[in-house]
Amino acid sequence: MDKLLIEGGSKLNGTMRASGAKNSALPILASSLLLEGKLSLSNVPHLKDVTTMIEVLGSMGAEISLDDDMNFEINTSNLNNHIARYELVKTMRASVLVLGPLLAKFGQAEVALPGGCAIGSRPVNLHLESMKKLGAEVVTEGGYIKAKAVNGLKGAEILFDTISVTGTENVLMAAVLAEGKTIIKNAAREPEVSDLIECLCQMGARISGAGTKELLIEGVQELNPTSFKIIPDRIETATYLTAVAMTGGNITIKDSRPDTMESVLDKLREAGAEITTESDSINLKMDSSLKSVDISTAPYPLFPTDMQAQFISLNTIAKGQAKVVETIFENRFMHVQELIRMGGDISLAGNTAIINGNSDALHSAPVMATDLRASASLVLAGLVAKGVTKIDRIYHIDRGYERIEEKLNALGAKIERVSG
Ligand code: EPU
Repeated sequence: MDKLLIEGGSKLNGTMRASGAKNSALPILASSLLLEGKLSLSNVPHLKDVTTMIEVLGSMGAEISLDDDMNFEINTSNLNNHIARYELVKTMRASVLVLGPLLAKFGQAEVALPGGCAIGSRPVNLHLESMKKLGAEVVTEGGYIKAKAVNGLKGAEILFDTISVTGTENVLMAAVLAEGKTIIKNAAREPEVSDLIECLCQMGARISGAGTKELLIEGVQELNPTSFKIIPDRIETATYLTAVAMTGGNITIKDSRPDTMESVLDKLREAGAEITTESDSINLKMDSSLKSVDISTAPYPLFPTDMQAQFISLNTIAKGQAKVVETIFENRFMHVQELIRMGGDISLAGNTAIINGNSDALHSAPVMATDLRASASLVLAGLVAKGVTKIDRIYHIDRGYERIEEKLNALGAKIERVSG
């Protein structure tokens, strides 16, 4: 199993490019099931989760080709089954995103129920209830979601009592081919949801309200082939900016979308970073001492849960006491015990972490990655810790960060990937 060895203490300087967004690529890949013909995608990140989604589509008969520049072409003209198998779904919960498109296109779907998860129980009840509202019969049997809509899906009004990103995406993909109008109330407003909407509209779907809490979908008979470029990954970008806020230095991230990252940029400024933006690039300079920042996670446009772990790392070496509240997932603090092993002064009470920062707090230790963003927080801690930090189980990080050690080493970090 691969590990990362990180020698802490180097400032990070230079220019890099943001990769395409994982959480946009996954639903957009799933949306290819709705088409008759080919979907061409560019800026797809080279990540384990993307490979898993490709395998899920391939297992249903989709033909996928890829050129040297990572441009994908997915042809779903010859699909031969509507089953997302447990062996694939268990490795990635986002596989549930094929439920809506399969039901819309074929009137039936079998998708393995995703199992446990390191960050919380993460049920899929909202996905299932919404499919029922659209007229599907849904049962869970033998570890599978079995859904049928013999006479096709019918538009409906769907109110989410909890905002759900992939829940909203599944309903969107089901409703675009349903008969009549669907209204989604309390929809997720994440930029990745808007990216999916843009792609679906390019295929001929009729959706209005992108970026707001209420989405109106008017069903159409069929969708057409198109080419689409995935938006830049705001969480990857924010993770690298946070790294430089911690190590000190000067970084420019090109091909990024600062307009989708305001809550995080505000917090990095509050921590002492100097940030300037252009429409597609961000520069961060850090040459003052780091100040602690309180955060509370919430759906977009507020502070993302996917940056909570990285900000706990930042707070371990910042001046002052910080309070970090996690409101989205009930168990997303697995990184805290590992950061404590590296010297962080962190205490947990319910969904709140209290961090007493100290610029010399972190020292190296062997630590273990437990989920994607937790792994990122350990990499950031390793970049500033004294000595060489060894991070085990880094397959978690390869699910969501493209060539992380290459990108950081190009900025001056000292990271080595070793196997065994
Ligand atoms: N929820 C339910 N029932 C449901 C669905 C969700 O109770 O049927 C609850 C969840 O348990 C959670 C809350 O609703 O408490 C919000 O979860 P959401 O459904 O929005 O999460 P998700 O769609 O499963 C996506 C991202 C996550 C990100 C969350 C929150 C993708 C593929 N995944 O997950 O990304 O943390 O939204 O923003 O888009 C990551 O990239 O590391 C990651 C975990």
